[in-house]
Amino acid sequence: MMKFAAVLLTFNLVTQPLFSQKTIRDESQVVSYVLPDLLKTRSGKMVRTKRDWEKTRRPELLSLFSENVYGKTPSEKVPMRFVQYDADSNALGGQAIRKQVTVYFGKKGERSMDILLYFPRNVKGSVPVFLGLNFAGNQVVHQDPGITITKRWVRDGVAPVIVEHRATEASRGSQAGDWVVEDILARGYGLATVFCGDLQPDRPDSFNEGVHSLFFKEGQNMPQSDEWGAIGAWAWGLSRAMDYLETDKMVDATKVAVIGHSRLGKAALWAGAQDQRFAMVVSNNSGEGGAAITRRKFGETIEIINKAFPHWFSGNYKQFGGREDALPVDYHELIALIAPRPVYIASASEDWWADPKGEYLSGYYASPAYALYGSEGLSTPELPETNRPTGAGKIGYHLRKGGHTMNRYDWQQYLHFADKWLRR
Ligand code: GCU
Repeated sequence: MMKFAAVLLTFNLVTQPLFSQKTIRDESQVVSYVLPDLLKTRSGKMVRTKRDWEKTRRPELLSLFSENVYGKTPSEKVPMRFVQYDADSNALGGQAIRKQVTVYFGKKGERSMDILLYFPRNVKGSVPVFLGLNFAGNQVVHQDPGITITKRWVRDGVAPVIVEHRATEASRGSQAGDWVVEDILARGYGLATVFCGDLQPDRPDSFNEGVHSLFFKEGQNMPQSDEWGAIGAWAWGLSRAMDYLETDKMVDATKVAVIGHSRLGKAALWAGAQDQRFAMVVSNNSGEGGAAITRRKFGETIEIINKAFPHWFSGNYKQFGGREDALPVDYHELIALIAPRPVYIASASEDWWADPKGEYLSGYYASPAYALYGSEGLSTPELPETNRPTGAGKIGYHLRKGGHTMNRYDWQQYLHFADKWLRR
């Protein structure tokens, strides 16, 4: 993913006029900005209680994010059917129980997604679960030969693992470092994952291939400007996976943490903001359009992201390229929509494209929403040092030393945080 960012940046530097703003990667170039007031409603009333928040401000912010950023998630329910097609009670050398379930959407099951699930074998009763989308098919999370290899289009054509956008045998476990399945199981958690491309292939011309088409009106083949983009569809898929998890007796559905890296971290945040069944939310290096404060204009900007990935957000979001100050929300308000549930934001020191400081600050500026519930958030605007996790309250944060990825260090912090908040 970083490769793409680097190419885009070089492109940006060479052909600067293509973008109206200069790319900022030095803190001294950040100019002052004014954030929308988290606790002030559009009509100018101050939010003083959690009741005001829940009745007025939270719904208002959800609508603002829907209309201006990610697009509206359809509220109609589509028929769904769960078909478990695989069970292995002795997976991963005896450490795990593995299941695979296809979720069919639509009257005739026109669309579907596959959920891969692992549970610790030695634990009785239901367990808390981490749920996250993956980038290239469920088989990338582990070498396990029992995982079905996706037949769908995969974005990254990294030979020999993905050839001409199709996953090969060699892709098994190719992103295992992002998932550390054995560590998760050893700590008593389950893991559920879905390929984002099952919901919408990650390219601009794929709206007809994904779940969008289930909601299109006669003759429509593109979302309207206030309708959802790919991130919206991915977030919707996370909620549908949650619908399944609620039916699985091995899952403690009151303790599901939704997690995602980068573009899928943006989707995890949007899913967690909308769907309060998620008991915890984890954003790993989600950056622009995720945890990062967009008004800082550090690294990637609205203009750049919309040009590179025109299918991710609503059509309306295009209006805010180069006009961050006109956006009626900023991303501290996305984090605040998760309150009072625990949220963990992680950055990486070399991942300037995602703006680590902006990611931290969204947690800091979301804290007043947590305070309405008597919960602690982040207490200082100062970015902590690398590898010093911070946040004694319900907002956790770390700046990992290194680049744009999700790894074992990150997971160790998520597991500690989950032990603290999901295990009580
Ligand atoms: C690109 C994009 C980011 C995104 C990242 C990823 O770098 O610019 O917004 O988060 O890809 O998904 O890895």
